[in-house]
Amino acid sequence: MSFATHAIRVARLARPTRNFSTSLSARYENVLVSRPQPGVALITLNRPKALNALNAAHFKDIASALKEADDDTSVGAMVLTGSDRAFAAGADIKEMKDKSFAEAYASNFLANWEVISKLNKPVIAAVSGYALGGGLELALQADILLVSPSAQLGQPEINLGVIPGGGGTQRLARLIGKSRTMELVLTGRIISADEAEKWGLVSRVVPEDIGVVNAAVQIAATIADKGRVAVAAGKEVVNAAFELSLAEGLRFERRLFHSLFATKDQKEGMTAFAEKRKPEWSHS
Ligand code: CAA
Repeated sequence: MSFATHAIRVARLARPTRNFSTSLSARYENVLVSRPQPGVALITLNRPKALNALNAAHFKDIASALKEADDDTSVGAMVLTGSDRAFAAGADIKEMKDKSFAEAYASNFLANWEVISKLNKPVIAAVSGYALGGGLELALQADILLVSPSAQLGQPEINLGVIPGGGGTQRLARLIGKSRTMELVLTGRIISADEAEKWGLVSRVVPEDIGVVNAAVQIAATIADKGRVAVAAGKEVVNAAFELSLAEGLRFERRLFHSLFATKDQKEGMTAFAEKRKPEWSHS
């Protein structure tokens, strides 16, 4: 059975509720935080009237909630999602429309968006509806990207007289190549979930009867059940593939692999295999 088939079967069996909330959720105005399964933080963008357009306050809440979950030792992985209608319809156009070049440049506008790609723990984006402009750029920073059949993805900034500024041109070019990235960035065309899957932009389209958030939570729970040191190393080294040459990347991978032999989890994992039992991770 493939991993995808397994994940879908498990998701059908273990359906987390989306509205499960903890005291954390009260602390953010534009974001809901819940714990749908042990070790999993579910962070839901919650600015529905503006289709989750990302203004400064909204983005600050998203970054803070993710950072808080990243720092929380009881969390092993995070899921980032929006509403059924919109993951996020982009940066807030009304907020930025009167910005001058000097203001944008002096404040290094959007530089703080990179905070998501710097988290140590895995982030899974579960996208339904619109993921446009900065919304898609936010999703592209996630480590795993799942979409529902309703997802519509694109970089329509060209229609506003600008270009993507939250990493879209660079991340898309690495993911789907020059020609397709040029088409999206220069025409502003919005693509469907199926096309995004065909282009290799997303892991997969999750059928409605399973639910993209449920599938993402299930993957996060599976990851949260592993040794955290190895998960962090795996995330770091895969991300390094986008920055390093092949020779440097292979060397980095091997060195991190070597370093894991200094962990208790490596001893436990391999001993448990030999003793035919489930490993008990100490995350050290
Ligand atoms: N910024 C601010 N407000 C937005 C918004 C955005 N990006 N997207 C939607 N909204 C607001 C609308 O203004 C509207 O508010 P009001 O009810 O107060 O008028 C509300 O959300 C609902 O939107 P619509 O009435 O337009 O809904 P629709 O179903 O007719 O259309 C849509 C949906 C196609 C997504 C359309 O809203 C749209 O085109 N939005 C803009 C998409 C866009 O251009 N995104 C890129 C932004 S620039 C960027 O992100 C730069 C970057 O690289 C970081």
